[in-house]
Amino acid sequence: MTHAIEIADLHKYFGQNEVLKGIRMTVDPGQVVCVIGPSGSGKSTLLRCVNLLEVPTKGKVFVDGVELTDPDVDIDAVRRRIGMVFQQFNLFPHMTALQNVMIAQQRVLKRGKKEAEVVARENLDKVGVGAKCDAYPAQLSGGQQQRVAIARALAMNPDLMLFDEPTSALDPELVGDVLTVMRKLAEEGMTMLVVTHEMGFARQVADRVVFMDGGVIVEDGEPAQVIGDPQQERTRTFLHRVLHPEE
Ligand SMILES: Nc1ncnc2c1ncn2[C@@H]1O[C@H](COP(=O)(O)OP(=O)(O)OP(=O)(O)O)[C@@H](O)[C@H]1O
Ligand SMILES: [Mg+2]
Repeated sequence: MTHAIEIADLHKYFGQNEVLKGIRMTVDPGQVVCVIGPSGSGKSTLLRCVNLLEVPTKGKVFVDGVELTDPDVDIDAVRRRIGMVFQQFNLFPHMTALQNVMIAQQRVLKRGKKEAEVVARENLDKVGVGAKCDAYPAQLSGGQQQRVAIARALAMNPDLMLFDEPTSALDPELVGDVLTVMRKLAEEGMTMLVVTHEMGFARQVADRVVFMDGGVIVEDGEPAQVIGDPQQERTRTFLHRVLHPEE
């Protein structure tokens, strides 16, 4: 079976600073893999290398068997199959929710206005903000804005979704709505690579949890293993800090 994502000996330098130091991992179709780890450990850089928002310095990245790091690859074609959701929702402030979900469909996929609108409404309904089609981002809560951003990604019919701390910017009471949408996507079989500190989500939804520290993968295994019974001291220390921040 072809992996949905295969990362082979990935290194990334920013100047002299080696931020990813030989990452190897795979994500299979339909799997949900959560990446956890301290600030600065390279989680966002790893995700950004998977859709070439960052260019790897060394190593290979494959998406559905297509090598992204091959200089001859049609990167726009590969990127169209990958949805990305960021901590900051990055909606266009001067466009309504509906327009935000239509625009890339029209520009990138060349869908007509009617079709783009139908697809946008379907996806806004799916994430529970169908009633907010005509609202501008400033008129929406953070949780609603993030769900519009998810709808925008889904409207492009991606094979794969990357999430970079999608709930970190949200007030605590809004986190659940976004996680519910992500859980539903996972249940529908979407392949997902998710950077998150939501350990409940990782435990319940992830097939695997990857703990990164200092640009390397320290542990990679089932959630019950990595979160419930970590083998490495670094993992235990990190989890303790996340699960007991008040101490
Ligand atoms: N564009 C860039 N130019 C230079 N250095 C960068 C750049 N992006 C990231 N870095 C550095 O790479 C390292 C890893 O950053 P990265 O954002 O991947 O960490 P992270 O694990 O996502 O952290 P956080 O949990 O805070 O989001 C950090 O030392 C950061 O300063
Ligand atoms: Mg980050």
